[in-house]
Amino acid sequence: MCGIVGYTGQKQAYPILIDGLKKLEYRGYDSAGVALHLGNHLAVYKKQGKVAALKEYAGDHPVASTTGIGHTRWATHGEPSDRNAHPHYSASGNIAMIHNGIIENYAQLKDELVSKGYTFNSDTDSEVLLNFIEDIKRNNECSLEEAVRVALKRVTGAYVILLIDTEHPDTIIAARKGSPLVIGVGKGEHFLGSDASPMLAYTKEVVYINDYELAIVRPDELILKNLGNERITPFVQKLDLELAAIEKGNYDHFMLKEIHEQPKTILDSLRGRLNAEQGYITLSGLNKIEEKLRNANRIVIVACGTSWHAGLIGEYLIEELCRLNVEVEYASEFRYRNPIISPQDVIIAISQSGETADTLVALENAKKQGAAIFGIVNVVGSSIARITDAGAYTHAGPEIGVASTKAFTAQVAVLQLFALKLAQLRGTIGDSLFQHLLHELEAIPAKVEWILDNQVEAIKAIARRYRDADNFLYLGRGYNFPIALEGALKLKEITYIHAEGYPAAEMKHGPIALVDEKLPVVFVATKDIYHEKIVSNIQEINARKGKVVAVVSEGDETVNELAEAVMVVPQAHEIVAPLLSVIPLQLLAYYIGVERDLDVDKPRNLAKSVTVE
Ligand code: AGP
Ligand code: GLU
Repeated sequence: MCGIVGYTGQKQAYPILIDGLKKLEYRGYDSAGVALHLGNHLAVYKKQGKVAALKEYAGDHPVASTTGIGHTRWATHGEPSDRNAHPHYSASGNIAMIHNGIIENYAQLKDELVSKGYTFNSDTDSEVLLNFIEDIKRNNECSLEEAVRVALKRVTGAYVILLIDTEHPDTIIAARKGSPLVIGVGKGEHFLGSDASPMLAYTKEVVYINDYELAIVRPDELILKNLGNERITPFVQKLDLELAAIEKGNYDHFMLKEIHEQPKTILDSLRGRLNAEQGYITLSGLNKIEEKLRNANRIVIVACGTSWHAGLIGEYLIEELCRLNVEVEYASEFRYRNPIISPQDVIIAISQSGETADTLVALENAKKQGAAIFGIVNVVGSSIARITDAGAYTHAGPEIGVASTKAFTAQVAVLQLFALKLAQLRGTIGDSLFQHLLHELEAIPAKVEWILDNQVEAIKAIARRYRDADNFLYLGRGYNFPIALEGALKLKEITYIHAEGYPAAEMKHGPIALVDEKLPVVFVATKDIYHEKIVSNIQEINARKGKVVAVVSEGDETVNELAEAVMVVPQAHEIVAPLLSVIPLQLLAYYIGVERDLDVDKPRNLAKSVTVE
């Protein structure tokens, strides 16, 4: 995780680095720091806490410098503190480095260095790598670039590293394996970042660096090499992203902005793909693996967190509509448990960031075993997008709030297109149902808009009423079971209230013991084939004096009477309904977070892009 930035050019580096770090704070906010080049020496400023704390500590213009690197940390090795904050100085003080990732064999490298007399100022794996590089440089009397190259051949784990040293006033050395790195190309200047947001105000020309590549970056020069010291021609791409897309606008938080963007983002994920009028779906990515899909034994969906919840909906959709076996796997388990994968399997990877380390490695493993990989990814050009055989971008635009909202609905919308298209190809769906579902899907953005226009005040009142609860239970059946899981995850992330999601019927097999007059139980109880059953489950909770809150379809008098409070969504076919029922749950988590005065965009301990395993 963690965000890294770098700048070398004619402008003052410090304000560019600070601004860039603020844009990358979603990736981690345990500490922040910058290192600046001052001719023959380096200056490092670093502070525990968010970028604002660093700025308060270092001031607006601590020193004049046109080359520097910056870091916002998500701690893996060593507690969040000033001393563990990046950048780190090497033992001699001549090199400063920032690191995103984990050096897995750091303990072994540290032992070697300690036996040579090195001491350390932090508990990080990063400082070990830095001194290992310096040790190689000293012993081999070689350049920093050469020392980095040699060192990285001994390193296991994941990294993006940026280094500056006293010998090269305007040069940044960068290398990557497993964590993202983008270099922005300006006129007489270069920008480096974990993503393109820090450079967006200055340039739209970017180069995505690949694993095992090393960059030597100067104001007028970008040299790219592999670890074998061979030159690689940088592939410059044009960014299709506007600055406004990564700013908060009039909203109090990115999360609220992103929740409210959903009518548009769902439309964007359907745009050019769904034509309800003429009755067809075009999903060009799917065409590429059509043959594989026709002959597939099964589909395995691999993802983490919220994307995994979208995957569960995908399982229900594909099994129901396409009559094809689907398994949904946590990427972290899938990568280590030696799963049976055959070339007849198709893997669907779902990821907002496209950089989640567990998902990425799980895919690499599956690929080696011959499976075809279809990606449902939000960030264009991300690592996962690049290793897939085919895919469909979700087109939700940049998601900055750490809790995923609009990316989730875009993932579900793409899965619906995928399942419908595949069902048509496999001949497992009748034409009238197909046509009906296209119209139902097309109607979703306007229905989401309706919820946002009509339910916010009711949801705010519910948030005020239950803001002090210690626990919540979320229950749903069928397509609404993954929504119950997602509602519970949103609440945990944003409000730090313990919440559990369960299939409503499963409640009787244990969780019902939790129910008392203090427990809010949120039922996702929209009108579907399970409606009568879920009404019985609501009665069971009422009989035990639980506080029933329900997401209901418009006009549902039955649940209205049984629940203490309701959040209403328009009626919709149960296959598309999750796109509606999740919206009130996102808003509920958001407003309870606001009621509890929490930083909803940057919940504690979390990071947006989990690039460590
Ligand atoms: C979502 O609210 C979470 N912060 C988290 O579970 C997230 O969905 C997960 O880390 C997966 O990320 P990805 O979609 O970028 O791969
Ligand atoms: N492993 C390093 C640390 O704990 C870097 C973590 C990060 O990517 O922020 O400092």
